[in-house]
Amino acid sequence: MGDILTFFVDHLGALADPVVLVFGGLLAAAGFMGSSYLTKNRMADQEERMRLLEAQSTTVAPADEPPFEFVYEVIRAKEFYNAIAGSYDQRNSSELLATHRAVISCLTPALDDNPADILDLGGGTGQLIAHRFFDKPLVTWNYVDFSPMMAERFQDNFSQTALKCRIHVNDVSGYLDQAVGASVDFAVLSMLLSSLPRDPDWTSLYHVLRAGGKLVVADADPAYTAIHPYYAISVDEQRHALRPRSVSPAQVTHDAGIAGFRHISTDTVRKANLNYTFIIQFQKPQ
Ligand SMILES: C[S@@+](CC[C@H](N)C(=O)[O-])C[C@H]1O[C@@H](n2cnc3c(N)ncnc32)[C@H](O)[C@@H]1O
Repeated sequence: MGDILTFFVDHLGALADPVVLVFGGLLAAAGFMGSSYLTKNRMADQEERMRLLEAQSTTVAPADEPPFEFVYEVIRAKEFYNAIAGSYDQRNSSELLATHRAVISCLTPALDDNPADILDLGGGTGQLIAHRFFDKPLVTWNYVDFSPMMAERFQDNFSQTALKCRIHVNDVSGYLDQAVGASVDFAVLSMLLSSLPRDPDWTSLYHVLRAGGKLVVADADPAYTAIHPYYAISVDEQRHALRPRSVSPAQVTHDAGIAGFRHISTDTVRKANLNYTFIIQFQKPQ
């Protein structure tokens, strides 16, 4: 998830001053000036050069722009996550880390050495959220992810820690169907909804939480997804790109409300001048 980088390409021909830009793994060689173009009047030459460059400005996209070697629609998200599991944690921008910090802060009672049962749907490698609880023996981490490769990473990461874990390699909907009667203190959906073809059944989710339990939903803001329609990760120099679903925080708030959840707060993390992610907290009434 990178920013747009604008630079200029000169098509004048013979090359005197190559400008090489390296950005997010993308190597772009651009902007060449013809030596035959240089005149005795260097000032006039520079002005002409700037004028031509401006006239030919091109917006070049970073690593999340096509072409990609592999493109996946959300219906094939499992293949995507299996392919990129080993590289998942290499892409963490400061804004993504800020999003995870905001999610973790919604779970602070569990951080404060209180017993807690946490349901982590689409838990990934565990490096960004579960990691914060690895030294908490009073916490039980109910991990659900349909990617065996992600679950393997998670297992490697938590195995030497104090955290009690239950690992379910399952689709979120399949898990919720069979989890009736569970009574967790927190349910977390961090960067999951945009990988699903549709939202999970909020009513099923409502029933796996105990009364007073909290639901935390974080995902890419639709404004960001509209401008960055691919989520791309390089593996062995090949780029795998998932085309995430656009998720509206207003719709999530509405639908979770219909299921019975009480809205507590919505926060936003911004990147440059865009809303990057949203973090919504809900509570199941007592
Ligand atoms: C973008 S990652 C987020 C990982 C972690 N929650 C985080 O915030 O960094 C999405 C995770 O959800 C999992 N996932 C996607 N669709 C799923 C589904 N239908 N059922 C279960 N897990 C799913 C993927 O395998 C992946 O590990």
